Amino acid sequence: MSDRLFIFDTTLRDGEQVPGCQLNTVEKIQVAKALEQLGVDVIEAGFPVSSPGDFNSVIEISKAVTWPTICALTRAVQKDIDVAADALKYAKHKRIHTGIGTSDSHIKYKFNSTREEIIERGVAAVKYAKKYVEDVEFYCEDAGRTENEYLARVVEAVIKAGATVVNIPDTTGYCLPQEYFEKIKYLKEHVDGIDRAIISTHCHNDLGMATANTLSGVLGGARQVEVTINGIGERAGNTSLEEIAMILKCHKGLDIETNINTTKIYPTSRMVSSLMNMPVQPNKAIVGRNAFAHSSGIHQDGVLKNVQTYEIINPKDVGIDDNAIVLTARSGRAALKHRLNVNGVEVDEQKLDKIYEKFLILADQKKEVNDADVLMLAGADTAEA
Ligand code: KIV
Ligand code: ZN
Repeated sequence: MSDRLFIFDTTLRDGEQVPGCQLNTVEKIQVAKALEQLGVDVIEAGFPVSSPGDFNSVIEISKAVTWPTICALTRAVQKDIDVAADALKYAKHKRIHTGIGTSDSHIKYKFNSTREEIIERGVAAVKYAKKYVEDVEFYCEDAGRTENEYLARVVEAVIKAGATVVNIPDTTGYCLPQEYFEKIKYLKEHVDGIDRAIISTHCHNDLGMATANTLSGVLGGARQVEVTINGIGERAGNTSLEEIAMILKCHKGLDIETNINTTKIYPTSRMVSSLMNMPVQPNKAIVGRNAFAHSSGIHQDGVLKNVQTYEIINPKDVGIDDNAIVLTARSGRAALKHRLNVNGVEVDEQKLDKIYEKFLILADQKKEVNDADVLMLAGADTAEA
């Protein structure tokens, strides 16, 4: 039987922290319902102590969504945990996500503390959260830059205190994929009681390695991934949900399954992008405007003969109707003929040659030749003939 990977979506917490991406409660409920339809296992709905708006949103999302676990973030502080527990009171399945920085720079500069004291604070926070909920996740902030031996001690202590999930964030997006793999593997091999908890990845994209690191974490033994729609999140963003879901779908040999209904990926991506006023870069994997657009002549010719030549994903699998053959100055006759046919114009090879000559002149002047241009070229040619 294949392994199940839990998808923890933090679009509404880490994603929503991004300047300009703030949503009101009604919009957050809309996104939460879309995430439920998409099939995520956990929705991190907010950081309730941070503002009355966040507190209220966690309450309303808890009422609106039934299937996924609703999670609220806290620092390792009793007041945060009290407020989070209150905000989660209507959730059918609830989780408190508490934690503290564990790297030496966090211990020294953020907390002016010691390694031993940080463990004590982490353990106390987990025990306190357990008074409210069974499901407690603990994050070791900046775990990516935390020495493995010490990290293992923290993880062991919080599992002993009752943590059900241990989150190993690469908060600054610093780790190399191999390094992150070794980190998760080290925890699997050195922490007493590790099998009582799920290890979670939480990777940031500062060096463009969030997805690679997340996958490495999964290969090392993590069974929850923290992700966002379109990869939005602090600074350069978080691991994007759609990339992880499609990697696992494309690479069946990994034998790891998620509950994601991939056909909902594109509509959810559009919804998040428009509500958050955050455009998706055109070449973004899976959901970018060009992700299924073929523009060079060689590629277009191949795709028109058989899509498998240049497509590893069926666009329908992610909720996109079809691939796009975009006409540019790089396009060949095959693509032009295809566009003519789609527009109901049949041409023989001689006619195609004549239209193609005119097409190249026009395409050199325009970034993209559209259907109206194609019809105009065909019409002009017919008139002359
Ligand atoms: O990046 C990070 O470390 C976080 C934690 C608060 C989980 O977002
Ligand atoms: Zn984060």
